[in-house]
Amino acid sequence: MTEIRTIGVVGLGAMGGGIAQLAVEAGYETIGREVTQEFGDAAAARIGHFLTRKVEKGQLTADEREAAVARLETTTDLEEFARCDLVIEAIIEELEPKRALFAELDRICRPDAVLATNTSALSVTEIAAATTRPERVVGMHFFNPAPLMPLVEIVQAELTSEAAVAVAVEVGSRFGKEVVTCHDTPGFIVNRVLIPLLNDCLRVLDEARVTPEALDVAMKNGAGWPMGPCALVDLVGIDVHVHAAEALYALTRDPRMAPPARLMTINNAGLLGRKSGRGFYTYEG
Ligand code: 3HC
Repeated sequence: MTEIRTIGVVGLGAMGGGIAQLAVEAGYETIGREVTQEFGDAAAARIGHFLTRKVEKGQLTADEREAAVARLETTTDLEEFARCDLVIEAIIEELEPKRALFAELDRICRPDAVLATNTSALSVTEIAAATTRPERVVGMHFFNPAPLMPLVEIVQAELTSEAAVAVAVEVGSRFGKEVVTCHDTPGFIVNRVLIPLLNDCLRVLDEARVTPEALDVAMKNGAGWPMGPCALVDLVGIDVHVHAAEALYALTRDPRMAPPARLMTINNAGLLGRKSGRGFYTYEG
């Protein structure tokens, strides 16, 4: 099995930043790529902040924090990924940009490097088909916020080799995650269930004429959810949920997968949830 020492992460947004944090904490040399150095610096600062909080809470020593921070390098240059044993992609949730990126990574990375996608609802098989090494392409689907949510789904696409799956399982375990493996079907395991469920919740807003606050109180206290559906969609990102729901609808033609009209309206207005300061709720800072 390829020994993994250096991990590349493409895209250091909410998901990629969290994945890079997991990688440095697990002891991997990590290269994070963003489109500008300012975005890269901001992501590194966020990771530094979360690691400082862990020191303040006694979950990490100051030395461990320093060592973890030192393992992170940010760049704007994909060519740096020639040094990586595993690359995890966490860019925009659209097929064509992902396929273009994988074709680039295929050109740049060593032939034995494993290329992983964090896609939540697109076909890993179609992404892998953009490369000349589909047997080395695998899904590694993390949940938001990646450093806190205990699960990673490892997705075996049509041509993924057992060896590439084993690499992803090994890295997921070293990240401290519960690892489940599954085949490349729409929504994999969790989103196959969660996306239509969240869509149903949002349709109830109009059907039962309740407020987002009331719906969240109901689902937290009546169904034991850790956070209500409106707060959860705000956390995930309204745009991310819309993209995932559209992708699942395109793959399944199941009307429950389609994003509810109300969510499309919010999305089109540019209210993207926590990251834009406003979604169903308004956020400070
Ligand atoms: N990255 C790193 N560290 C973070 C973080 C992040 N994004 N967010 C918070 N933290 C750290 C902070 O340091 C924080 O401590 P601090 O406030 O003292 O600094 C610490 O984690 C704990 O944060 P919270 O107090 O907010 O933690 P909670 O105990 O309230 O739990 C939660 C938060 C884990 C988000 C919990 O509310 C939960 O489980 N919610 C459900 C989330 C969920 O269902 N996610 C899945 C979404 S679906 C998905 O991702 C699929 C995708 O494909 C769309």
